[in-house]
Amino acid sequence: MKLVLMGYMGSGKSVLAKDLSEKTGLDWLDLDAYIESKEGLKINQIFKEKGEIYFRLIEHKYLKEILCNKNNLIIATGGGTPCYSGNIAIINQNAVSIYLKGSIQTLAERLINEKETRPLLKNIKEEELKSFIAKHLFERNSFYNQATFTVSVDNKTVEKISNEIITLLN
Ligand code: S3P
Repeated sequence: MKLVLMGYMGSGKSVLAKDLSEKTGLDWLDLDAYIESKEGLKINQIFKEKGEIYFRLIEHKYLKEILCNKNNLIIATGGGTPCYSGNIAIINQNAVSIYLKGSIQTLAERLINEKETRPLLKNIKEEELKSFIAKHLFERNSFYNQATFTVSVDNKTVEKISNEIITLLN
């Protein structure tokens, strides 16, 4: 079984993948970390030195590599992964996908202190963060909404969300 966690930046994909891995015994992998190890560069550096188009190309390549060659795995994708290069179709053909859905308020609260680590948010002013997220989500929702299951993450603990996902899978 392959499980793909998707959702906007700050929705908790990696934390949940780790927690679900402990609960289910399945291995877990973070796509961004996989890209960093394969390329020998941090995501920030890839965006800065090679640009977003290059990042999307390799994100697609490594996603396929993982989905086609590995089994029994939980994959935490990057926030944009399902929204480019036909990735959502490849994800749904090879795995069960979960959209971790956060409200604009929840995502903005979580991301306000983490802007620097994310190339797409780095140059967004604090006061513009919520409207940026709102517009970005509007563009991305049609991809996220193709997930096999959607789970709301607002005001819930990791434990609660993990248990909800496990119930959905059973
Ligand atoms: C991105 C999200 C990031 C990372 C890259 C692009 C996006 O992952 O893949 O900075 O397009 O939303 P996280 O969602 O883990 O921050």
